[in-house]
Amino acid sequence: MPREITGQKTVLRPIAESEYAQACAWRNDPGVAHLFYRRSVTPDQMGRDVEKLRRSATGDTLAITNRETLDFIGTLTYAIARKQGAPAEATLGILIGPEHARGRGLGADAINALGAWLAQELGVGKLLVEVKPGNSKAMNFYEKAGFAQRAIVMERDI
Ligand SMILES: CC(C)(COP(=O)(O)OP(=O)(O)OC[C@H]1O[C@@H](n2cnc3c(N)ncnc32)[C@H](O)[C@@H]1OP(=O)(O)O)[C@@H](O)C(=O)NCCC(=O)NCCS
Repeated sequence: MPREITGQKTVLRPIAESEYAQACAWRNDPGVAHLFYRRSVTPDQMGRDVEKLRRSATGDTLAITNRETLDFIGTLTYAIARKQGAPAEATLGILIGPEHARGRGLGADAINALGAWLAQELGVGKLLVEVKPGNSKAMNFYEKAGFAQRAIVMERDI
């Protein structure tokens, strides 16, 4: 787990328990909640998820802070999967919370900083993200950050 990762515009550090309530408030906002599969997350659930990820030593949820002001502005989760004979892959989930913090390059900077750290420190060779259909803003954002579509997964209830 990193103690701190410094990007050009952001500083990332493990999220603190005292920040779960704010992170859930951003996550559960009706303008954002529909972009995720789980409709809402409580601070307790978030705490359990973070602890599980930390115990497994394969990932973490990081607080994204503005490097200039050190304000807490979002969360970035990574989970690493290692398969024999292939480069390790990290699946990411990102949320920039306050409206005023979006569109300023902070999300892209956080992903670039984490990506560089994962490659250098943990030998990760690929970043993955899962985007819900219709979240064209996020797709646009990821494409601009160098991601390309790898698969389209379809499902049907039975
Ligand atoms: C998607 C998200 C993480 C982007 O973070 P951000 O800090 O606002 O994005 P950036 O300022 O780094 O944007 C980088 C590029 O992404 C694109 N982009 C970002 N927000 C966009 C938007 N609202 N509409 C269209 N393109 C957008 C732009 O091309 C931008 O490049 P530019 O600055 O040259 O125009 C953030 O808006 C967010 O948290 N959204 C809600 C949650 C979400 O959808 N998370 C992803 C779930 S898969």
